Amino acid sequence: MQYSKSFIFTVREDPKVAECVSHKLLLKGSFLYMVSSGIYSYLPLGLRVLENVSNIIRKHMNASGAQEILMSALQPIEIWQKTGRDEVLSEVMLRFKDRKNRTLVLGPTHEEEVTEIVKKHISSYKQLPRILYQIQTKFRDEARPRFGVVRSCEFIMKDAYSFDVDEEGLARNYEAMRSAYQAIFKECGLNFIMTEAESGAMGGNVSHEFMVPAEIGEDMLCECQKCGKHFKDMSNCPECDSKLNERRMIEIGHVFKLGTKYSKAQEALFIDKDGVRKPVIMGCYGIGVSRVLAAIVETNYDDKGVIWPKSVSPFDVQFVCLDEKLIPEASSMVESLERNGFNVLFDERSEPAGVKFNDAYLLGNPYIVIIGKNYASSKKIDLEIRKTRQKTSLSEEELINFLKNEYGK
Ligand SMILES: Nc1ncnc2c1ncn2[C@@H]1O[C@H](COP(=O)(O)OP(=O)(O)O)[C@@H](O)[C@H]1O
Ligand SMILES: [Mg+2]
Ligand SMILES: [Zn+2]
Repeated sequence: MQYSKSFIFTVREDPKVAECVSHKLLLKGSFLYMVSSGIYSYLPLGLRVLENVSNIIRKHMNASGAQEILMSALQPIEIWQKTGRDEVLSEVMLRFKDRKNRTLVLGPTHEEEVTEIVKKHISSYKQLPRILYQIQTKFRDEARPRFGVVRSCEFIMKDAYSFDVDEEGLARNYEAMRSAYQAIFKECGLNFIMTEAESGAMGGNVSHEFMVPAEIGEDMLCECQKCGKHFKDMSNCPECDSKLNERRMIEIGHVFKLGTKYSKAQEALFIDKDGVRKPVIMGCYGIGVSRVLAAIVETNYDDKGVIWPKSVSPFDVQFVCLDEKLIPEASSMVESLERNGFNVLFDERSEPAGVKFNDAYLLGNPYIVIIGKNYASSKKIDLEIRKTRQKTSLSEEELINFLKNEYGK
């Protein structure tokens, strides 16, 4: 991608509306566009990161036997009345009437809808177990949308739902999801903590939350001063009786054992081996995909900008050409990097070097390659590692070998 033709328009000043680091950097770097408070559009750079995170999620979900679907955002109010959650969630639910006078909801979550889908298609134990998931936009009329995409009114969630004949099956799927989550967050470069949690409006009783420690976190966890274990509400660590410190956390994922709460209320029944009709046993598993993006930034930045982990960065390499005369050589190197499977943002703009470096640091792609005046004599280019700011001078061949090694290609 040539920078001069891209839809990347960074800004120098810190946006006045920015409430935290991720909000500020994502706006400054033109990853996001703020439509209104709590409402955001993703520009090309932000969408690339979102797609990378989504694909990591897909890979691990598919590997654990889950199948992807895409449910509607518009839902009839009637399915919510079956479970009584039209009242429980009435404050966050955006509802309106269409021209036929139907009351519709913009789905804040999808337990009800997925239960209807399963009710329609599953009738026998032979069709179970199954896991369905989607990556889709949720709508919640949040009381306090805050911190950009950390808490917004329209956000992207990965929600998965498991369906089993018995508790043992549910326990197996719950474990499969839990370990998929660990693999997902690790691959996204997040330092996360898994904790036991209350299940709130979802019902059921067993649940775990995945948290990332961060200053702006809206959740609080107690951390044992001695063993480092985390708990929700306690005064001393039950395991070593040491004192607990409070730490702020961002919740990025949440897994629940739902049991039969929804299947009973909506009559999603199956005929078991013994010929008896029983409610399907369910679990649900959510990841705030857009919030993950913010959590990655909140924990990976410096005074110059974002430092994306390799696995999710918009580009692998930002290739900075400092001399217009060298554009042919630079272009050929960019092509050769692309042939080797690397995504390159080629900064061939006629801007001062300082502007190009500022943008490279702000955008936070993991490797910055610089071609400048001394290339003519030395045939060497500079490689700067965004995270450590470490610089090395190398040949084109050495650069490609280095990157292949870094990316395991
Ligand atoms: N308003 C929001 N903005 C961005 N992400 C959200 C929002 N609400 C929830 N999420 C993300 O979706 C995941 C699943 O949502 P859920 O646990 O149902 O929400 P909550 O914890 O608010 O009840 C959460 O772990 C969080 O990462
Ligand atoms: Mg939650
Ligand atoms: Zn302890």
